[in-house]
Amino acid sequence: MSFILRNEFFGGLLYDVAGKNYYHLDHATVAVLRSANVLCREEYSDSPSINEAEQAALRNELSTLGALGNTTFLNNTPGEGLLSAPLRVFYDITYRCSEACKHCFTDSGRGETDELNLEEKTGLIDQLVDMACFRVSIAGGEPLLDQHFFPFVDYALRRGIDVSFSTNAAAVTDSVAERLARTNIRTINVSLDGWDEQSFAIVRGHGRFPRVLQGIDRLRRKYSGRLAAKCTIMRTNVGHLERIIALAAEHGFDAIKFNGVRLAGRARTQEWLFPTQDEYLQALSSLADLHDTGHAPINLELPANPYQTCEEGGAGSIDELGPGCYAAKESLCVTPCGDITPCSSFGRGRFTDGNVRVTPILEAWRCGSSMSLFRAKKNNPECLACSALAACRGGCHQRAFYMYGTLDDVDPYCFKRKNRPWDGWQSTPDGGQHGAL
Ligand SMILES: C[S@@+](CC[C@H](N)C(=O)[O-])C[C@H]1O[C@@H](n2cnc3c(N)ncnc32)[C@H](O)[C@@H]1O
Repeated sequence: MSFILRNEFFGGLLYDVAGKNYYHLDHATVAVLRSANVLCREEYSDSPSINEAEQAALRNELSTLGALGNTTFLNNTPGEGLLSAPLRVFYDITYRCSEACKHCFTDSGRGETDELNLEEKTGLIDQLVDMACFRVSIAGGEPLLDQHFFPFVDYALRRGIDVSFSTNAAAVTDSVAERLARTNIRTINVSLDGWDEQSFAIVRGHGRFPRVLQGIDRLRRKYSGRLAAKCTIMRTNVGHLERIIALAAEHGFDAIKFNGVRLAGRARTQEWLFPTQDEYLQALSSLADLHDTGHAPINLELPANPYQTCEEGGAGSIDELGPGCYAAKESLCVTPCGDITPCSSFGRGRFTDGNVRVTPILEAWRCGSSMSLFRAKKNNPECLACSALAACRGGCHQRAFYMYGTLDDVDPYCFKRKNRPWDGWQSTPDGGQHGAL
């Protein structure tokens, strides 16, 4: 069977094993799918609550997808108002890193002694399989420095879990690139937040830029899968994002993903890295224009924003889960030492719902108090009344939390309310002006 259907409170989630995509289906579509399946027909005698023509249209869609008569139906219990399990787990595999980026939200550098061992890591994958969560995204620290990275990825792929990971590319030798090329990874993300030696050095240190470009080129020569650049928008690059797009295109990236810097980890003491609200909004508006006109040389993926009028393709987010970020709604994070948390950018030990060594991930997902807190968030009244909410989803709650002390306040980079929190921070640590970059 090449599709798997998981029961959900709004109907079901259909996973396309070959295409590695989730589709969310309403009750009527699930009923049509079941009625086409011989084994289910007797067990589920409910007939779809829609007329014949509507059923035929849905049957047609499911058939085009290839799911009709080609689906395994799980027997799981749906959650009440929440997904029965996450869609994706973000796993920071290690805190070890060769770099000392000034903005690093995981505060990585030296690894911790109690990071998960290989058996515990593969146990994590077994749990994903058991709860029908088919996606793991690996970051850190630097995943390629973790001795278990390749055994872990191989095990995940063998068990049918879709793997993506993020790297700084500095450790990509020819043999690492060859090994990655032989591994069926969905996307390799490479951090790219500068466009030349100086802009790169200010965040990542001198001499890193040529090494990273060399790693990227080695990777691109061997690996034909999807390569995406990941650019964190900071004061150091906010006025020059087109140069980074051009660099990414020149080095063979398929896409570039942008994200705003979060007030977390080492970035918390580096306020000079934060663009002003006006700078950030101006940058996003320009990126959205570039995206919508289709003039960018590679695909642009932007944070949720009200400027962009053309939607990305794909299944999209699940409206039934309400507005707000995806943490605890569609995803959760596991830290290198095994802590389970809705979002790892709140810092080590914050908002944790147990540890994978003792707490099943599914239990944390369903009953964890942090998960409930993140899910219960309904945004503040200002967001709820705002015309931009559907587009921005309420912004980043982590930035709101560290700026204003509550998950429910507005993101300091709100598209509507003028906060101007970082307007006073104009100079670099060495006293220079960022405008000089
Ligand atoms: C923490 S790194 C770990 C993976 C890998 N070492 C790398 O460089 O991609 C993952 C991504 O998070 C981004 N990042 C780090 N600190 C951040 C912060 N304070 N706010 C937003 N993104 C951040 C990095 O730029 C990188 O693209």
